[in-house]
Amino acid sequence: MYRSHTCGELRIADVNKEVTLSGWVQTVRKFGSITFVDIRDRYGITQLLFSEALNALLDANPLGREFVLQVKGTVNERSNKNPNIPTGDIEIAISEFTILNKSAVPPFSIQDDTDGGDELRMKYRFMDLRRNSVKKNLELRYAVGRSTRNYLHENNFMDIETPFLIKSTPEGARDFVVPSRMNPGQFYALPQSPQTFKQLLMVSGFDRYYQIVKCFRDEDLRADRQPEFTQIDCEMSFVEQEDILNMFEGLVKRIFKDVKNIDYTDLVERMTWEDAMWKFGNDKPDIRFDLQIANLKFPQHSFTNKKTALHDTAFEKEGVGGDLLAFPVFEEAETVLAIAIPGCSEYTRKQTDELTEWVKRPQIGMKGLMFIKCNTDGTYKSSVDKFYSPEKLKAIADAAHATAGDLVLILAGAEEKTRKATSDLRMYLGERLGLRKADHFKLLWVLDFPLFEYAEDENRWVARHHPFTSPKPDHIDIMINNNPVIENAANYLAHPYAGIKANAYDMVLNGNEIGGGSIRIFQRALQEKMFAALGMDAEEQQHKFGFLLGAFEYGAPPHGGLAFGFDRLCALLGGSESIRDFIAFPKNNSGRDVMLDAPSTIDAKQFEELQIKLNLK
Ligand code: AMO
Repeated sequence: MYRSHTCGELRIADVNKEVTLSGWVQTVRKFGSITFVDIRDRYGITQLLFSEALNALLDANPLGREFVLQVKGTVNERSNKNPNIPTGDIEIAISEFTILNKSAVPPFSIQDDTDGGDELRMKYRFMDLRRNSVKKNLELRYAVGRSTRNYLHENNFMDIETPFLIKSTPEGARDFVVPSRMNPGQFYALPQSPQTFKQLLMVSGFDRYYQIVKCFRDEDLRADRQPEFTQIDCEMSFVEQEDILNMFEGLVKRIFKDVKNIDYTDLVERMTWEDAMWKFGNDKPDIRFDLQIANLKFPQHSFTNKKTALHDTAFEKEGVGGDLLAFPVFEEAETVLAIAIPGCSEYTRKQTDELTEWVKRPQIGMKGLMFIKCNTDGTYKSSVDKFYSPEKLKAIADAAHATAGDLVLILAGAEEKTRKATSDLRMYLGERLGLRKADHFKLLWVLDFPLFEYAEDENRWVARHHPFTSPKPDHIDIMINNNPVIENAANYLAHPYAGIKANAYDMVLNGNEIGGGSIRIFQRALQEKMFAALGMDAEEQQHKFGFLLGAFEYGAPPHGGLAFGFDRLCALLGGSESIRDFIAFPKNNSGRDVMLDAPSTIDAKQFEELQIKLNLK
């Protein structure tokens, strides 16, 4: 028997018990003739006391960090108790010990504040995972998975596996491909998601499907993106958007309760995509804090960074326009946006300079920042004093919804860039003012996304979500009755397709998109129309999606679903926006597994079998 107890288990009530423990040596401390050793396993740490009688044996068999050790001994009450650990009242007086395995000196210390850099920890990930902080993240991940499975099981969802060696599923990224030895010259694609399979399962009658499943996307990596990541993938039949929103709000609330013991009783807020873009500058606003963006000038072209039509009626009422913007920087700019920061009118020159430098950094790329201080005595002080009378400053501040004590920050420039910069500035200020607390969770549904985006380089429409997403019911006719071809690229916004909204929704948690989905197209004719709108002729449709179009002819029910980014959800619940530490064996930012040293070359024999010749450029 290797152990009678774990290293986290023994308490004062166990005093005098004879026990056997096994684990890793955390520390060895010699005090005169006695030696203290901390032994660690997944469950905790226990202090071991090696008395003088064991000195000769210890000298002959010295213990080092991370040695795998088995000990037998008696539980004693400690004279010097450690209130910081659950086993801190006791120690084990050792009678026998066996070194089960030695360890080389670890490349970094196995403790919360490790001295190991990122790459080193990734290379020795199996040891990094021994660290309490990383271990806790995996425990949280397991808890999120368990809670998800319980909730979905209780709601009649069935976990059904779908294949990994498939044909391309378009989710907007590049595919990872796998050559087929048995079919020379042909390739499988790894799924970017199980999208088409879950829809086929609806046609099969499995009206509630889920899978916690790996997805593969060859795209540029960021803190919240990995080339292989996990989704909680779900689909339901005979549902409308409202049914889906309710079901999955329920799931996230259940996870909050099970994993964090949070009763999320607030109504989950809902916002249209247009509102999100206008008021927060992006489609995944962090609504833990207000700081809404005001549009001071009606843009010449109202579109966003993704070249999607953005029509706003609210804005037309709000914009300042006229001579209030009679200042060269404002006049020339496509867009002028402002945020009022409460209680910051007393910012010093140094502080406003700092903000200006912040927006001028290459990542943000603005030329400058203008401000108006709305002093509590009713006066106004501004970086553009020269150009404006106090009355005009007040009018601009009013348009930015500022009140006494606020600092109004104004950015002007090209539409896309300015909107993004203002959104980034809003997040930065939220952080600076302590409004983005990791333990404060705020959910939001963003609804009514555009169905299409304009791909400038190809002068055609692409699907904003994916090609299986249905248009809003009252926009179906616009799709059917209009030719998708864009005659006038410069004025694509005038095309009827630019205004078509989708039955699509994203769930946003604290400014992060944690999930997204849609009500699907389920009739062959509309699906064909959709593919055609994306520029696919009948032959290409048949080649790529003949299986789905065919299935829609055999009794496809109305259906819809969504997928959560499981890694993202776990990271946010763990108080982080970086998903790497919540994945047991993640890739680095170049998509490499530095531990395995993958990707790597393959043997000449493998190339031969696959009948593939490299032609590297
Ligand atoms: P979507 O592409 O929006 O939808 O993906 C769903 C969620 O998956 C997460 N996610 C990622 N997480 C980590 N690394 C990545 N590279 C990555 N890419 C996406 C995000 C995102 O919200 N089939 C559809 C879902 C549906 O329509 O049902 C889909 O995959 O949190």
